[in-house]
Amino acid sequence: VTDANERALLEEQVGSWTQAKLSVLRRYIGYKDERGRGGGFLGATVGARERNYIDGHASYGHDRVSGVFRRNGTPLIALEAAITAKDGRTSRFDHLWFVELDKAKADELTANVRRAGGAARAEVLNRDINVVIPEILTKVHPLAPTLCVLDPYDPGDLRFETIRRIADHARDERRHKIEQFVNLPIGLMHRGVNLKEKRTLTAQAKGRLRELIGGSGWEPLLDAYGAGAGPRWPEVFEAMKAEFIANVRGLGYTYVQVMDVLPPHPYYSLVFASDHPRAETIMGSSMRDWQRDPTNPQLTLDWSR
Ligand SMILES: C[S@@+](CC[C@H](N)C(=O)[O-])C[C@H]1O[C@@H](n2cnc3c(N)ncnc32)[C@H](O)[C@@H]1O
Repeated sequence: VTDANERALLEEQVGSWTQAKLSVLRRYIGYKDERGRGGGFLGATVGARERNYIDGHASYGHDRVSGVFRRNGTPLIALEAAITAKDGRTSRFDHLWFVELDKAKADELTANVRRAGGAARAEVLNRDINVVIPEILTKVHPLAPTLCVLDPYDPGDLRFETIRRIADHARDERRHKIEQFVNLPIGLMHRGVNLKEKRTLTAQAKGRLRELIGGSGWEPLLDAYGAGAGPRWPEVFEAMKAEFIANVRGLGYTYVQVMDVLPPHPYYSLVFASDHPRAETIMGSSMRDWQRDPTNPQLTLDWSR
């Protein structure tokens, strides 16, 4: 296998990882199928006075898939989504905050938002989500159904403290918590472990994971794996994920739904947290049937077999 072949294979995998994430989100936010069914979050909240959206890791607006085609990334999916109810009312996000740390990407996103005619509704912030989140939360309407997407590349890009702040937003006023859709990027952490030399992750890498997961219960298992003493990588991955999920539940979220992308060697896990039974139902079908998203350009291989 040549380097070029390996790169092509990896690119193809990255393609399907991205597809799954974007299709789950698009199905969740909502669209109508050709028979007029569906509607997702936007359909379910058509009666609310306004709907808000926060994107903590927005990138520039588009995603390249398999080096062949491109599709909207998370911020443009949210910006362009609109649902018309049977009674003629339209539902879309009224205020959107897109946070992107990289200046060039934030500038490109600003141009893409303008091109899509969304400048009056969406604000692009060239900031660190972990720092700017309190400022954004002061602008989120306490009665607005709100969805927050956190899509970091690396553990260091997101801290559990940020998730906690979002969960605590307007505690006494909100009827339902802000919903959070988190991409937990822990699937490739085994690459930082050197099994031949029996070395575990660096102290710095472990520190970042602790801050992302919100605890360190998984560390002994990771160290044992690094030392070649028993546990295999999937067990360490599951321990990290379980601790993160328990911490999310501890914030008061009744429904936590998880999808590994893609089994059997997941690159990340999608973790959705809400306290609304309707949200649970919609996300259940979004995760189960993500391939039905009409913007998913080709049917993907059945990877569950
Ligand atoms: C996986 S990409 C996001 C992809 C995007 N959600 C999409 O669907 O196209 C992660 C992005 O987060 C940005 N980023 C990393 N750390 C950040 C931080 N602390 N605050 C805001 N953005 C950050 C990176 O520059 C990168 O563009």
